[in-house]
Amino acid sequence: MKIDEKINYWVSSEAQTILCGLQQKIETGSLSQEEFSFQRNQFLPHVPSPLQTILLEQLALRLKAKKKIFQASQLLFTKLNLEQATREIVSRHKAKKLAHFPVIADLCCGIGGDSFFLDNRIVGVDINPGILKLYDFNMRKLNKDFIAVCTDATRCNIRSQAALLDPARRQTAHSNTGWQDDSLSPALSQIEGCIKHYKNMGIKLRPGITVPEFLCDYELEYIGVKDECIELTVWTGDLGCSQRVTAVELESGSSISASISDIPDTFSHINYPGSYIFEPVKVLVRSHLFGVLANQLGLWQIDSQIAYLSGNEPVLHPFLKSYKIIGQYSLNLKGLKRVIKEHDIGILEIKKRGVAVSPEKVRKQLSPKGSQSGILIFTRVKNKKTVFLVQPFKRRACQEMESLI
Ligand SMILES: C[S@@+](CC[C@H](N)C(=O)[O-])C[C@H]1O[C@@H](n2cnc3c(N)ncnc32)[C@H](O)[C@@H]1O
Repeated sequence: MKIDEKINYWVSSEAQTILCGLQQKIETGSLSQEEFSFQRNQFLPHVPSPLQTILLEQLALRLKAKKKIFQASQLLFTKLNLEQATREIVSRHKAKKLAHFPVIADLCCGIGGDSFFLDNRIVGVDINPGILKLYDFNMRKLNKDFIAVCTDATRCNIRSQAALLDPARRQTAHSNTGWQDDSLSPALSQIEGCIKHYKNMGIKLRPGITVPEFLCDYELEYIGVKDECIELTVWTGDLGCSQRVTAVELESGSSISASISDIPDTFSHINYPGSYIFEPVKVLVRSHLFGVLANQLGLWQIDSQIAYLSGNEPVLHPFLKSYKIIGQYSLNLKGLKRVIKEHDIGILEIKKRGVAVSPEKVRKQLSPKGSQSGILIFTRVKNKKTVFLVQPFKRRACQEMESLI
């Protein structure tokens, strides 16, 4: 069945009544999705089989969407638009910044991930009429103050004081490297025109993108949750500081910023390891702000090309995973096998940065058989391949140490 036909059915009152009934049964535990899948003729005897299939598809999408959006069980999705939808925690973070603007344009609104948590008047714009039907449905469900406009976001000039823009990422058929930046829609070159019109914008990009020069004039905010870097938002106009890079970890609320031009100077402190190794979380690595944090905390890099930091004192910080160094070795499998045996390690975690080893292969070669767990870090110290045996350093260990002082 074509996607437009599916959408027309999903928004119909018949599908809504059925979905609502099934959803209630699933949420109260009286029916599992598997049971429905296997016995759909019994549950929906009067619904033709192709429609049963797409009802099941929507139920599965809602279940998946719950990981991104709390109220997903009331909303409608397509597979692609769910994949590209902004997560609730990120959407709420961006909504706070926009709270004081009366009207926001959500350009390339998709099914509405960026609009759901805005309390402003919203103009949702999408080029795809089918997707806009889902946006309209979802926004009504959430009682939002909105209008939905079906047009090319680069050709309409909505009168709003600020705009969000989330270009579609297309996966090219021949690519195995994921979303391609050169196939953004609208294209990066068209985004420049949008900034001229709206002035205050939040533009969502893939965090791994090579940021084009014209966007480096604005604030680049790398947004992460725990050790995941979720998106890069470029804030323009009054929404950001010119030529600034920020990293934010949303669960702890921690953030760090620096001027783009100052960042290269923060990578000059390289030395042999102290007693601890610190692994910056991904948002700090992507933003290249780990040198800035190292300087603030009195830490240093152990290699000019690698994002591991070191220090002599334990540090607990939301941007760092901390490890106490138990031993430091050269990359020699025979020697490492001895180390694993001496420390009675059976459950072995292998981390690597800057050394081309396959953790699975190495684990097999070291064949750990002990009763303890351990972590090996394969990396470089001043360009020399080095392996560390480390122990994670957690808040409890820190409190125990403080009580001894
Ligand atoms: C990444 S999705 C948006 C996701 C949305 N922000 C969310 O969180 O749910 C991109 C959307 O852009 C739309 N789109 C692509 N090119 C467009 C254009 N030139 N004008 C308007 N919409 C466009 C696509 O139809 C798609 O729905």
